[in-house]
Order: sequence, then C-alpha cells, then structure tokens
Amino acid sequence: MTGGVITKVTRANSAAIRAAADVLRAGGLVAIPTETVYGLGADATDATAVARIYAAKGRPSFNPLISHVSDLAAARRIAQFDDAALRLAALWPGPLTLVLPKAQDCPVAELALAGLPTIAVRVPAHPVARELIAVFGKPIVAPSANRSGHVSPTDAQHVVADLDGRVDLVLDGGATPVGVESSIVACLNGTTRLLRPGGLPRAEMERALGHRFALAEDLPLMADGDEAPIAPGMLASHYAPRARLRLNSDRVNEGEAVLAFGATLLPGAKQAAMSLNLSERGDLVEAAANLFSHLRALDAADVTSIAVMPVPPEGLGEAINDRLARAAAPRP
Ligand code: TXA
Ligand code: MG
Repeated sequence: MTGGVITKVTRANSAAIRAAADVLRAGGLVAIPTETVYGLGADATDATAVARIYAAKGRPSFNPLISHVSDLAAARRIAQFDDAALRLAALWPGPLTLVLPKAQDCPVAELALAGLPTIAVRVPAHPVARELIAVFGKPIVAPSANRSGHVSPTDAQHVVADLDGRVDLVLDGGATPVGVESSIVACLNGTTRLLRPGGLPRAEMERALGHRFALAEDLPLMADGDEAPIAPGMLASHYAPRARLRLNSDRVNEGEAVLAFGATLLPGAKQAAMSLNLSERGDLVEAAANLFSHLRALDAADVTSIAVMPVPPEGLGEAINDRLARAAAPRP
C-alpha cells in the first residue's frame, strides 16, 4: 500500500466509504474529511498501519495521534472518563478532543500513543467521517493530512498537494466547515486544561464544564518534535508557510501580500502583491474556515512576506490567533 505514484481521489459516497473501510482493513491509509480539517486515517489497532502514517507525513518523531470513534460508548472502551470528561463529552459529536487516561485493555496500538499512558479521543461530527467509522467498526487514528510542518488541509486538493502517492485513497467531502483543528482538553488527575484552542470555543467548553480551565502554561513538555505531545501550543513553529507573516499589521509594505480581516482597507493595501480576506463581514467562524486555504494561496503567490490584519481574540479568534502565531514563529 501507498506505493502508487498517484493517489485515488473519489467523491465520498457510500460505495467510496465502503471501499475506504476495505483499505483500512488492509492496513492502508485513507484521507478523511472531518468538520475541522482532513485527517490521514489508519486502523488504530494496527501498529504497521500507524507507522505508515508517520512515514507518509514525514514526522520527525512518533507524536501521539487522535483516535476517532463513533460515540461515547466506543470512547469508553479506549479511555477513562472522570466527571469533567463526561460533561465535556456531552458536546460530542464535534470539534473537541479529550486527552484521558487510556482504558485497561485499550486496543489502540502503542505506537499511536507514543508510549504515553494517556490517549486523545474524539467523536467527529462530519457525516463522512461518521459513516466511515461506523462501517469500519473500529477506532481510526488520524493526524491532520498534511506533510509535517505544513498547514492543515481543508479540502481534498490540499491533501493531494501534500500527500499524493503517500495515501491510498482520498475521500473528497468538499471543504471542511470549521477549518481549524479540534480543541484539545486534557482531563487528568482531576484537572482540566486546554492544550490547544481549536474549533470549539473556550466559552462553550467552560460552560459545559461549569468552571474555567486550569492554566496550561505550567505543563511540562514531554517530547520535542514539530508537534509536541503534551502541550502542542508551546511549540514554536508548526503551521509554517514559506513566507514570513507580519501579525497585527496596520499597514502593507511594498511587495507584501495581505491577509485581511473585516472591511477596513489598510494603508498600502491597494499596491499589495495579492490580497485575501478571511471574512469581509468580520465573522470569526467564516475566518476560521478560510484560514488555512488563504495561507496556502498567499504562500503559493511566492511573496516573501504577508501582512496579517488583527483578528479579535474572542470565540474562534483564540484558535485563529494561535495558528497565526505559530505560522509566524521563526523556524529552526
Ligand atoms: O481536528 C483535529 O484534531 C484533526 C482531525 C483530523 O481530527 N487532527 C489533528 O491531529 O489535528 P494532529 O495529529 O495534527 O494534532 C493532534 C495533537 C498533536 O499536537 C498531538 O501531540 C496531540 O494532539 N496529542 C495527541 N495525543 C496526545 C496526548 N496523549 N497527550 C497530549 N497531546 C496529545
Ligand atoms: Mg497536525
């Protein structure tokens, strides 16, 4: 598997989903649309298949993967839920990943957990992901379906651009509606921490929880690599376009491209090499959905610098600003 030069891309109807389940059963890799971003999926219980994910992504280290399951009952077969975890699980299906102690007799391959005693679990809401998990009948591990260090794919063509020939099948379910990765919350030792802001706004999760998250800042880093296991947010550079990003820009310099937000036109914007707007009406949900595809498009225009307008930090703005800060971080 994954030996072919050209990857098959197919519209995600029921026949294609059954074919995808067969690929997974044979130990192959399938790119799957979820409501957040496309995932690079494999049979979670097959260590060889999991290893193929790392090879395909070109990950420098074996960082742990999210296990995707159909419902809470299936999640409880692989992870242990405390009260806080159960309250948050009421928000499933959706763009929320929980990091929990793994269950006794957890069938997920050790490699997918990178040797950790904890496991990341998610119940996605996207109908294609849900149908595939149901037909396959086992947990599917899936990181975002991009090469290591690239931005996450929000449509099937992004997947092909990064992973052509390295994935057996791409299920094309169109553009992903949310556009940023899932929010990741750890419920461990009686404490809940937001490890990665994402597609589910903090306020919604804290409302379900009944209190605020503990600070994630004092978490130890458990590994290095481009996507560090315990606190991905502490990692300097991950979502990395080639062009430099100038965040919170109030003007556009000569030769720069612009990533705009809202209706205001920055000084110098008319001369910009290229300009794309995350959301002209200043809608953060629309902005999240456009974030990665706009970054890719501006980067492809071959400019050395992109002026990024300020994005307000509330709601999905927290995740958007987090991804922008990472994309702007200097690379080693
Ligand atoms: O929206 C998403 O979450 C997408 C879709 C495909 O589900 N997936 C995704 O996976 O973004 P990935 O591998 O690109 O990012 C998952 C993050 C990584 O930073 C990983 O280190 C962290 O989750 N993670 C996984 N298991 C963990 C664990 N046991 N403890 C702490 N962090 C963990
Ligand atoms: Mg990723």
